[in-house]
Amino acid sequence: MTVKDSMEKAAHILKENKIESPVKEAGVLLAYVLKKDVSWLYAHPEHCPGHDELTEFDALVNKRSKRMPLQYITNSQEFMSLNFYVNRHCLVPRPETEILVGEALKWIKNCCRDRVRVLDIGAGSGAICVSIAWYSGKTIIDALDISKRALLVAEINAKKYHVDNRIKFINADFTQWENEEIYNIIVSNPPYIPRKEIETLMPEVRDYEPLAALDGGRDGLKFYRSLAPRIKKLMAPGGAAFVEVGMDQAEQVVNIFRENGLNTSVFKDLAGIDRIVRIFF
Ligand SMILES: C[S@@+](CC[C@H](N)C(=O)[O-])C[C@H]1O[C@@H](n2cnc3c(N)ncnc32)[C@H](O)[C@@H]1O
Repeated sequence: MTVKDSMEKAAHILKENKIESPVKEAGVLLAYVLKKDVSWLYAHPEHCPGHDELTEFDALVNKRSKRMPLQYITNSQEFMSLNFYVNRHCLVPRPETEILVGEALKWIKNCCRDRVRVLDIGAGSGAICVSIAWYSGKTIIDALDISKRALLVAEINAKKYHVDNRIKFINADFTQWENEEIYNIIVSNPPYIPRKEIETLMPEVRDYEPLAALDGGRDGLKFYRSLAPRIKKLMAPGGAAFVEVGMDQAEQVVNIFRENGLNTSVFKDLAGIDRIVRIFF
């Protein structure tokens, strides 16, 4: 069986299982098995993969047909032009979170301090904290997560990009955690899906991503209500916090922080959706 035949067969199976881009994903999976670029496949359509390679490819196509996210199969996701290791213990980093990192980095760049202390609440794969550490050498970061397994992923990524010496990983429930430090900047992409909506999400998210990364309580706003009254105790004077919010949540999140005497501004994502709330006082 050639590369071309294998890809056509896999694309057909993926399409039958309602995968949105079956040809593209068949290519990604075969390239992953053969340890080549997708472009190599198109340049070598008559190449015949070995028996073991075809067996592995079939197994991966089968996993994807059961709607396991492609990123958990290939253990990788690009974020902020970095390649993150991911597995099913962490959320797959999303493009909209890059807006949060971009705004946080702008703030850090304009801050005249030599050292900027950062707190990442709900670090997951480390997408936010590792990117901030990678793009700004003056940051020292505490990265907190309730999931020990997610933090292990974050550590892998911090080591991969040689920023592990500037990130302290803290396995704790934020709602119970007592801070010993104060921070110049707080970043968080918290779980914000209203609990009853989780059932309606696509199978890749609903059946595979960690519930703790999704479940924002009854109305999705549990985390913001827990952060707002504590923020003055966590933040150094002149500091700022950047939090991601779900679609249609920005106004309610702004109100939660305003009710606690805090100032806010809102940034949109590339789809024009209000996505990041900046908090300052
Ligand atoms: C939406 S994910 C974000 C992961 C990563 N920061 C990103 O942007 O891709 C939220 C993360 O918050 C963590 N989390 C949920 N509840 C928490 C809590 N009470 N205390 C600390 N971390 C929590 C979850 O384990 C998950 O890793």
